[in-house]
Amino acid sequence: MSEERLRVSRREVLKGAAGAAAWLGVPAAARAEGEERAPSWPGIRRLGPGPTPLSFRLNGEAVTIEVTPRTTLLDALRGPLGLTGAKRACDRGACGACTVWIDGRTANACTVLALDVDGLAVTTVEGLSSGNALHPVQEAFVAQDALMCGFCTPGMVMSCAKLVERGAVDEESLREGLSGNLCRCGAYPHIFRACQEAQR
Ligand code: FES
Ligand code: FES
Repeated sequence: MSEERLRVSRREVLKGAAGAAAWLGVPAAARAEGEERAPSWPGIRRLGPGPTPLSFRLNGEAVTIEVTPRTTLLDALRGPLGLTGAKRACDRGACGACTVWIDGRTANACTVLALDVDGLAVTTVEGLSSGNALHPVQEAFVAQDALMCGFCTPGMVMSCAKLVERGAVDEESLREGLSGNLCRCGAYPHIFRACQEAQR
């Protein structure tokens, strides 16, 4: 390719980029700054594209890590934070194996971006017990033999613990409340009994 053609190409590329920036509503000051990759507005935190600080409470402890904006909470938990209790099965919000609590509400960690829990409180199954003392739902799972392969169990326990907390352990409430947690081994009758035992 000739030098002249290269010059023309660069000019066209620059013109195109300026047009795109204007179309995207990038402020003129930001457009004038060659290194600027995204606009900054007061009060709006720019995220990424590289590692970005993330601070939240995890099982009662303050943690700060760096994650890229596309990192899911499940990836952050199982990766840099080293907590493998929440399981990855479908990785698309369909099975509940990755259930955690975010600010006290159940959530599928595979469908939540890690940066979205900045400043929030996350509880995983590792945070449910107190030292060696199991949570009543965990004890009831053991007593009622409420698991076979155990892959669904951490997520199931997190959802069951919320239902027990709300006293929603009649069969209809359990069917509804656990509809997002799939057990391919079919241990549901034992799981339901465990929830009802934990409530007593
Ligand atoms: S792994 Fe998250 S819902 Fe299945
Ligand atoms: S115990 Fe195997 S998936 Fe539930």
